[in-house]
Amino acid sequence: MTGNSQVVIIQDSGLKNKGYIDLIARDHDVRQIDINDVSPQDVTNIKLIIIQVNLIDPNSILPLKRIMAMPERRNIPALFLLQEFSRREIVQATTLGAADYTLYPCPENDFIHLIDTLINNEKGKAWEKLSPAQEEALKVSLKVVEKTFHNASKGLEVSQTEIKDSCNLIIEATAKDGLTDWMNAIRFHHDYTYRHSMMVCGYLVSFGMLLQVRKTDLQKLAVGGMMHDIGKAMVPLSILDKPSELTDSEQKTINKHPLHGKDILTRENWDEVMIDIACHHHEQLDGTGYPHGLAGTEITDITRLASIADVFSSLSDKRPYKAAMTAEDAITAMLKMEGQLDIPLVKSFRAVVLPMDADICK
Ligand SMILES: [Fe+2]
Ligand SMILES: [Fe+2]
Repeated sequence: MTGNSQVVIIQDSGLKNKGYIDLIARDHDVRQIDINDVSPQDVTNIKLIIIQVNLIDPNSILPLKRIMAMPERRNIPALFLLQEFSRREIVQATTLGAADYTLYPCPENDFIHLIDTLINNEKGKAWEKLSPAQEEALKVSLKVVEKTFHNASKGLEVSQTEIKDSCNLIIEATAKDGLTDWMNAIRFHHDYTYRHSMMVCGYLVSFGMLLQVRKTDLQKLAVGGMMHDIGKAMVPLSILDKPSELTDSEQKTINKHPLHGKDILTRENWDEVMIDIACHHHEQLDGTGYPHGLAGTEITDITRLASIADVFSSLSDKRPYKAAMTAEDAITAMLKMEGQLDIPLVKSFRAVVLPMDADICK
């Protein structure tokens, strides 16, 4: 039966929280189908598929693979609702071709926003605006970032060549076609840490171009930005992507990431500039930062730039427990962080991220 449903929900027989179904049904036609009963007609001419099954159960994976491989499904985004937010679930969802995933239950507003974003294909529209150079740079670097974090978490080799090559693509694409469009596209990536690493890289590239640094320094800024949070590969996802505020003990675990980053990059003989950025991007000029409580001139210029890009990316990006700030509000907040950030540099950074000035950076 085809019906007029816009949203199809695929479920298994397990007991799960299904409060979202009424929420979606307010604005969309909804149809629920058992995972073993899905036919190609069920996924034809619909707007969204929501998958709420046990991804740890091998019996779910086979029928899911079959559904996700249907040609009729190819252009329909699939949202996976995760039960534990474990790495295993995330890997399964990503491998199966999830357009996005979320822990469920989650706050109602966030859920509606996610559904609207997927149904309106905002990600697709943002990617369509990219130039060929931007699209290639983004696709290649995202793959490299994912692989690098995965390898770092397993203690495997963290390839410098791949990171450097993908950063060069970003530098070329940004020099040619600017920052705005690719930053808008990366904003829709589902993984916060990967998205944030790419954003910090992009902001630092544009910042470096604005400051007219030498090409070799631009490369260091790009790589330093992409790798600044590599230490987070050692933090459990249940803490890293926790959809609510952290406890003190969880915060302590996260705050170890600069030292983990230093260890990973030192082990792989990375340039000391990258190690400095990974280790010290949370230091503050007044000595209240971590992990070493460095102050003033003990914090290098390049790490000061990285801290600014890092704070801006954090403030202007959404998290499950906080809304995104506008660029204007984020800069206003940062200009008040005297003692933490280098304020004259924040004033320069303004031109990188505010639209009025952004065109000048192209
Ligand atoms: Fe960090
Ligand atoms: Fe960061």
